[in-house]
Amino acid sequence: MVHIPIMTLILGLETSCDETACAIVQDGRKLIAQSVKTQAAIHQTFGGVIPEVAARHHLEAINEVIDDVLKESNINKKDLTAIACTNGPGFVGALLVGLSAAKALAWSWSKPLIAVDHLFAHVCANYVDTKLEPPFLCLLVSGGHTQLVHFSDYQTATILGQTLDDAVGEAYDKVARMLGLGYPGGPAIDNLARSGNPDAFPLPEGNVEKFDFSYSGLKTAVLRTIEKLEKQGNKETLPLADLAASFQKAANQILVKKTVLAAKQLNLDTVVLAGGVAANADLRKRFSQIKELEVFMPPLKYCTDNAVMVAACAHFMNLNANMDVSVYSRQKRKKQ
Ligand code: KG4
Ligand code: ZN
Repeated sequence: MVHIPIMTLILGLETSCDETACAIVQDGRKLIAQSVKTQAAIHQTFGGVIPEVAARHHLEAINEVIDDVLKESNINKKDLTAIACTNGPGFVGALLVGLSAAKALAWSWSKPLIAVDHLFAHVCANYVDTKLEPPFLCLLVSGGHTQLVHFSDYQTATILGQTLDDAVGEAYDKVARMLGLGYPGGPAIDNLARSGNPDAFPLPEGNVEKFDFSYSGLKTAVLRTIEKLEKQGNKETLPLADLAASFQKAANQILVKKTVLAAKQLNLDTVVLAGGVAANADLRKRFSQIKELEVFMPPLKYCTDNAVMVAACAHFMNLNANMDVSVYSRQKRKKQ
C-alpha cells in the first residue's frame, strides 16, 4: 500500500504509565514542541508504579505540559489538524486523565480526536526525523510487552511472536530488585553492567519455540546464582556488576537473534527497535552490529514514554477520528 502523506499538525497526549507528556508533531516526522514530566522519583519510594498515585500526578501535570507546548510552539490552535491521545494499554486511571483532557481539547477547539495504541506509538517514534518506511520488522521491548511485529505497511501490523511470561522490561525490573538496585530497574542494570563481565555467570537465554520469548527461566537462574553466592559467604560482597552484565547479555542476545531470524524469514531488509528497553546500551550496540539489515533505533529521548510518538502514530496509523472512545488496560491484538 502506498502511503499518501497528508499535511498534518497533531497535538498528542501520553499518560499511560508514569510520564505525563504533550507534543505537537508535523506530518508525523517533525517535532514542533514537546514537554514531558516524569514521576519516576515519586514511584521510586514504592519500588514500582502505584496506579492511583500515577493518576493523581497526571492530573496535576496535564495542564502544565499542554501549556508548555502551546507556549513553546507558538502555534495557533486553529492550525491543528487533530488531537491524539494514548487510550491503552496502560493504567486505566492514568489513561483516563489523558483521554479526558484530549476529549476536552477536541470538543472545545472543534478538532477530531484520534485515540492511539501505546505500543504502536512506541514503534512510530522511529518515523520522527527519519525516512523510515514500511515494510519492516519491529522488536518491541517495553515494561509490559516483548514482541516481534511485522509492519507490512503503515497501518498493518502482525504479531509474529511474543513473550510467554514476563516482558523483558519486567525481567530487568525484577532482577534489579533482586540485586537491590531499586526502581526503575532497567536503567540501573544498564549502568551497572557497563563495569561488569558479561561472561562471569553463564545464564540460560530462554530459547522457546519460533519467535516467542520466555524470561521466567532466566529470572530464576539469576535468583539461584545469587542464593548460591550468598551461601558461599558472599552476601555483603555480591558481584553486582558481573551479575547485571551476565543477565543483560542473556536477555538481549536472544532478542537480537530472533529479530534477525524473523526478518530473514520474511525477506525484510529493515529492522526497527522500539519501547523503553530500546534505551539499553548493550541492546543498542547489538542491534547496531547487525550487518546484513538496515537498522533503525529511536534516539534515547523517544525510547521512554513521550507524546511525540503519540502524535506521529496518529498521523501514520489511524486517522479515524472518534469522540466515543474509552480506555483499555490490556492489549487487544493477538498473535496471528
Ligand atoms: O516502554 P516503557 O516506558 O513501558 C511500557 O510502555 O510498558 O518501558 C519501561 C521499561 C521498564 O521496564 C524499564 O526498566 C525499561 O523499560 N527500561 C530499560 C532501560 N530504560 C528503561 N531497560 C533496560 N535498559 C534501559 N536503559
Ligand atoms: Zn511505553
